[in-house]
Amino acid sequence: MSATYKEHNKSTFIHELIKKMTPVEKIGQLNQLGTSIYGEKENLFEDFIREGSVGSFLTVRGAEKTNYMQRIAVNESRLGIPLLFAEDVIHGYETLFPIPLAESCTWNPELTKDSAVISAKEAAAAGIHWTYSPMMDISRDPRWGRVAEGYGEDPLLTARFIKEKIKGYQGNRKNGEYISEDSVLACGKHFVGYGAVESGKDYNSVDLSISKLGNVHLPPFRAAINSGVASIMSAFHALNGIPCTVNPFLLKDILRQNLKFSGLLVSDWNAIAECIVHGYSPDRKAAALQAFNAGIDIDMASKVFCDELDNLLVEEKISEKALDNAVYRVLSLKYDLQLFEKPYRTFREKEQKVLFTSENKSKSLEIAKESIVLLKNEYETLPLMDQETILLTGPLADDKNLMVGTWACNGKAENVITPYEGLKKSNKINTVYCKGCNIKGEIIEKDQGLIEKEIRNVNKIVVVLGESASESGEAKSKSNIGLVEGQKDYFDYLRKFGKPIIVVLMNGRPLEISHVAEHASSIIEAWHLGTMSGIAIASILTGVYNPNGKLTMTFPRSVGQIPVYYSHMSTGRPKSKMHFNTAKYLDEKNSGLFPFGYGLSYTSFEYKNMEIEKDVLTSEADCLKVSCMIKNTGNFEGKEIVQLYINDHFASQVRPVKELIDFKKIELMPNEQRAVSFCISAKDLGFYDNQGKYILESGEYTVFLGTNSHETVAKEFELKLDGER
Ligand code: GLC
Repeated sequence: MSATYKEHNKSTFIHELIKKMTPVEKIGQLNQLGTSIYGEKENLFEDFIREGSVGSFLTVRGAEKTNYMQRIAVNESRLGIPLLFAEDVIHGYETLFPIPLAESCTWNPELTKDSAVISAKEAAAAGIHWTYSPMMDISRDPRWGRVAEGYGEDPLLTARFIKEKIKGYQGNRKNGEYISEDSVLACGKHFVGYGAVESGKDYNSVDLSISKLGNVHLPPFRAAINSGVASIMSAFHALNGIPCTVNPFLLKDILRQNLKFSGLLVSDWNAIAECIVHGYSPDRKAAALQAFNAGIDIDMASKVFCDELDNLLVEEKISEKALDNAVYRVLSLKYDLQLFEKPYRTFREKEQKVLFTSENKSKSLEIAKESIVLLKNEYETLPLMDQETILLTGPLADDKNLMVGTWACNGKAENVITPYEGLKKSNKINTVYCKGCNIKGEIIEKDQGLIEKEIRNVNKIVVVLGESASESGEAKSKSNIGLVEGQKDYFDYLRKFGKPIIVVLMNGRPLEISHVAEHASSIIEAWHLGTMSGIAIASILTGVYNPNGKLTMTFPRSVGQIPVYYSHMSTGRPKSKMHFNTAKYLDEKNSGLFPFGYGLSYTSFEYKNMEIEKDVLTSEADCLKVSCMIKNTGNFEGKEIVQLYINDHFASQVRPVKELIDFKKIELMPNEQRAVSFCISAKDLGFYDNQGKYILESGEYTVFLGTNSHETVAKEFELKLDGER
């Protein structure tokens, strides 16, 4: 339980402090500087700190450096207002966890809270107060490199993870409680619709209907705000022609009024200045005015506020009251962190004790194992049998630098365990290793000789292919999401030996792997799993751990299908065998290669006796119990993610053919069976219309229950609201 304070004490303290501040000092609190970027010489802006012209920094790490800068602020500036230190702690600070897209495949939001708790503890020990995480952009376009940072294509699943992530970062604090010394402020980003950038090209324009915003892109932000997220970050892109950072409809009407967000709003890096480049703001002064009036509190790294707001104040283009309100929100975060009483929350010895502990690593391993998705396993090629001999090969089989994942923060490549190291540690498999080709797929000649010499003693081939960490994340969009040609060629070279091939993929996005899927015996989707990658992968390969992850983003058959996702609309001419003129391609199937919610196990599960307790719901408060018996019909203990979807047959706005509305993860021993039940609340059956209004209508529904978004059992029911239809 964190220490508490009285709201009126906080308010009085901050208002008294604001009264003492000069305009320059007030504007300073709205100015955030990055100390080192893209290899430029590091600048700690000591003079800015002494003048009170900066209120927060990002990219400063470590107890020593943050304390050094904090001492200048507290002891050498006129009012001694402490600094905030922010950092992108996306999937761990020093101990790296799986990238969020991987972590989402656990379908276990509790684990994301666990990783956030540890990430916060390590970051806080390193002097960080505020993480620019969680990213909650919904995306159905794997060409966009930032899908690595999110939780996939589905709003409900993302919202469940976001809720827990924020609790983990902020220590589940309530209003009136200080943020504990092991917790950090969270930041929901990027507001809003960034995952829908046109053609998957980062920073590109976005055009979305109000209902698409309400039903797809806003649900994670609603969850974040309901979970008390301390801050929100505005997105780079222009939404419906207006850059998010200067868009009062988004930032005031939707975020502040509709979603009731009362926390701090920070721009993305240099985003205010870039409104000029967008062709929206004629100059920096206009950009400052538009961003401030739209509701941005902190200007990240553009210095536009620092350079322009004082003139705008003098010209009465912005009011002192609005300025004080923005300053209040900044000082409120510093108060919640208790920085005015305890500006030094950490020190070198604490940092050394807290970072990269064996407990942190074992949690990272637990999550990494649960993030792995088994996509194919023909003839039970996996798990490997004890003392089998494999050829382990491929550019990602033993290359630490390639594996850390995007936004690796303070994670060190040398600390990452590779698949080769993991297999050696497992001591269960005889491994012949050679890299075979590099990440571009360029063959290593000498390795070909080794393979041809050793292949006769090999039972199976394990090849680790995919993307390096630097191929996903920000500004890493791709027009082609297939394996690079050379890697495909290397895969075909290995096929010549006629041995079963197990492909392990390490990547930051769904890839187009139709060729591999056709010819590999088994495929493991291992993403970028962080520090303990190799141990987790070895645990799955050797059967020590039965894979149970499921995809949260559809794998396309070809890039031409994008966006391809499960919760699509029917259209008036859904593809059918009966008619020719239907919604289809002449040269490709409609379905993805591997659908949302898909993932195999070393065991098998049977779904039977689906039941609904009634077939009519009569009010908004009513709920419908749905249950099904699930049996483990295989020989391995295993976890199964049971998914619940609905389809609204007809409504005043067309609705998706399926929408995830709940899920549960259960564990069953071989032959064990269990009834799994859900409760569908009538109030959750509504949708947002193009006026942004939540609509709940009487109607007919199908409820689906299944092991993925394609393989389901179904029942029908009705919603009859009082007096309707
Ligand atoms: C970046 C990203 C944002 C990040 C910020 C600070 O450009 O868009 O997600 O938090 O700048 O690094």
